Amino acid sequence: MTRDQARALDAADPLARYRDAFALPEGVIYLDGNSLGVLPRAVTPALADTVQRQWGERLIRSWNEGWIDAPQRLGGLIAPLIGAQPHEVIVGDTTSTHLFKAIVAALRHDPKRRTVVSEAGNFPTDLHIAEGAVGCVAGARLKVVARDQLADALDDDTALLLLTHVHYKTADRFDLGDWTARAHAAGALMLWDFSHSVGAVPLDVTAAHVDLAVGCTYKYLNGGPGAPAFLYVAERLQAALANPVSGWMGHAEPFAFQDAYRPAEGMRRWLVGTPSILAMASLEAALGLWADIDQQAVAAKSAALFDILHAAGTAAGLECVSLTDPAKRGSHISFRAPHAYELTQALIARGVIGDFRAPDVLRLGLTPLYLSHEDVWQAGETLAQVIADESWRDPAYATRNVVT
Ligand SMILES: Cc1ncc(COP(=O)(O)O)c(C=O)c1O
Repeated sequence: MTRDQARALDAADPLARYRDAFALPEGVIYLDGNSLGVLPRAVTPALADTVQRQWGERLIRSWNEGWIDAPQRLGGLIAPLIGAQPHEVIVGDTTSTHLFKAIVAALRHDPKRRTVVSEAGNFPTDLHIAEGAVGCVAGARLKVVARDQLADALDDDTALLLLTHVHYKTADRFDLGDWTARAHAAGALMLWDFSHSVGAVPLDVTAAHVDLAVGCTYKYLNGGPGAPAFLYVAERLQAALANPVSGWMGHAEPFAFQDAYRPAEGMRRWLVGTPSILAMASLEAALGLWADIDQQAVAAKSAALFDILHAAGTAAGLECVSLTDPAKRGSHISFRAPHAYELTQALIARGVIGDFRAPDVLRLGLTPLYLSHEDVWQAGETLAQVIADESWRDPAYATRNVVT
């Protein structure tokens, strides 16, 4: 591809108009929106209003002027992005915390089934939380197996199949309907982690009969660093599942101040403590963008951006570890290279920001709302150059940061 060809794709891009909704820094091609999304312009005034007017002037009155309903209201904004109904999603806590609540709830749902099955190499927090959660339920255990062993691992002791829909490292994507059906055929519940899927690939939890799902909002949804996560519980299960972290915000009447816990109806029972309103305000402003976005257009552009970087990276001699079939992957591309860390740092020094995933993966996120085809083409040129002139060998690029 040439620069002119990339520009021609931009001229015909139905999503190009969203770029201006983001505060992109000068001189940066940002390929890390799968880790921390770019700041949407709408967030800054929304946060200023939340701080100055809602907090500064309205003070405690703001709880009754919209704050207290923020977890459900934001859930309603995320619901269409995953194919759920508004009353099936709630926002608050972290993905890790939602995972814990959902795993323990699933284990307690059917005491005859004691095993949680998950994938080796799943995102660490999913496995760490699952390990902690089974430790809290008598007789429960965690079975972690390779991807090609998952089908055989399901049996009549399986309470829950826990999978991350799009793999954080490779971008491999599970078939949502197929794996949910396999879990159900074994008599188990299905819990998906959509952290690398929501806002990146079309999702339909209703069509796939998904039971439970969680996901991050600071990646493709651009909610801000540490933005509150979402939890989906299918309507048919809402009355039957109990939140093991029974905090006052999930109580039927928090302001009745009763000693005994009585869960709220619907998704509110999954709340724990007081939501972080500043973080909610940032996320709510970011979600406003998604109201009229066509998910199929996002997927089509993601595929086109992938092809540009795939061509550049493989021509430069890198091994692509992401699948080339767009239906089988998410919205990032990963290359395996022995000096992937140094390569990542050399790119960052040249304004092309991606990230490194140990031990040897250069990961580049493709976010169709704010990246142009020309950006990605330019990133491919820079990648090729850094490899060709071996500038990644500069010892300065070998110093490891805490966050990679
Ligand atoms: C698949 C997956 N789950 C969970 C998380 C993070 O969870 P938390 O927001 O609780 O740190 C990430 C972060 O990258 C992730 O990739």
